[in-house]
Amino acid sequence: MPVITCIEDLKRLHRRRTPRMFWDYCESGSYTEQTFRDNCSDFSLIRLRQRVARDLSDRDTSGTMLGQPVTMPVALAPVGSCGMQYPDGEILAARAAARFGVPFTLSTMSICSIEDVAEHAGPGFWFQLYVMRDEDFVDAVIERAKKAGCSALVLTLDLQVLGQRHKDLKNGLTSPPRPTIPNLLDILRRPRWALAMARTPRRQFRNIVGHVKGVTDLADLTAWTNEQFDPKLDWSKVARIRDQWGGKLVLKGVLDAEDAQMAVDAGADAVVVSNHGGRQLDGALSSIRALPSIVRAVGGQTEVWLDSGIRSGQDVLKALALGATGTMIGRAYLHGLGAMGEAGVTAALEVIRKEIDITMALCGERRLRDVGRHDLLVPEDFEGRWG
Ligand SMILES: Cc1cc2nc3c(=O)[nH]c(=O)nc-3n(C[C@H](O)[C@H](O)[C@H](O)COP(=O)(O)O)c2cc1C
Repeated sequence: MPVITCIEDLKRLHRRRTPRMFWDYCESGSYTEQTFRDNCSDFSLIRLRQRVARDLSDRDTSGTMLGQPVTMPVALAPVGSCGMQYPDGEILAARAAARFGVPFTLSTMSICSIEDVAEHAGPGFWFQLYVMRDEDFVDAVIERAKKAGCSALVLTLDLQVLGQRHKDLKNGLTSPPRPTIPNLLDILRRPRWALAMARTPRRQFRNIVGHVKGVTDLADLTAWTNEQFDPKLDWSKVARIRDQWGGKLVLKGVLDAEDAQMAVDAGADAVVVSNHGGRQLDGALSSIRALPSIVRAVGGQTEVWLDSGIRSGQDVLKALALGATGTMIGRAYLHGLGAMGEAGVTAALEVIRKEIDITMALCGERRLRDVGRHDLLVPEDFEGRWG
């Protein structure tokens, strides 16, 4: 068992153990990848304020998200095709999250189905919805999530049209991969992945295949998904979905204070400040730069979470100090999953929790709820000069 001390260790193993097309799918942003890069590099512009000679005993990283107690305010973001990074990936990640005491979000575009995850990892996870043109599918999948015991609906708003990721097109990304010679050669170099994948029946988007009329194989599925993301999604549709769901609603993909206010007016229990991990609007602000204005606009009215760019507990602390009440991680846990399955997700969560704890302490804080702007040194122009 390799010694894992940071997310970077898991990332290296993930890259080595996962077929190239799925690694590229994880580790890419759209177009020039400017926003993808900024998401991480902007965190490093913020410095932490070192404090000394304070009582640091009895520290506590716990909190709540949507009123639910959490070991730390870090939820697993929805990630499509987890089950291609590692066989049965969604079930394994959901289990690791439940055991650790943080929420797991299942993507619409998951390999394991909602029912399968509920059966093998237990109910209570969150379900992420992509609004599709096929309204029957949307209605049915909301009902399936309710029936499976999902405790929140995470509605993603920033993917009405798809930002292009060059590598996915060049790799001809499909789940399962097409049996071309380069793909087969690449898979042969990852025998551990190939053998485990051969053993599982879960190799397609199982929330969709078998649930949409006419979609039975890979060709049907590719054709269906390519034309399904709904460009007409607007606030009236959000309201319709909110009413149909009737439970806790998280609106994800908000990067602008005006939209954040509309999200609150639409009944969001939480908004996620996110640019989809730099996979959609290339050239958009990094999430961490967008956060302060959104906190000022809606902070007192709803929970404000941040994702995109978090790779450490230090990053989580910076987001909380800038006013986020919670965070989500995508790639940071996916690296754990791709590296070592369930144990890898647990390792990723443990790394981040320890980093939060030590960083909080070295800032002179004992509890996350006491963390604030006073713990940071932020460059004067961090938010400004973008108008
Ligand atoms: C490989 C991959 C697949 C993703 N799939 C989805 C998805 O199906 N639904 C969704 O709402 N967001 C999806 N996202 C975005 C994540 O939910 C999250 O916003 C993003 O990963 C946060 O950035 P980070 O990876 O830097 O933490 C995906 C992200 C990645 C990296």
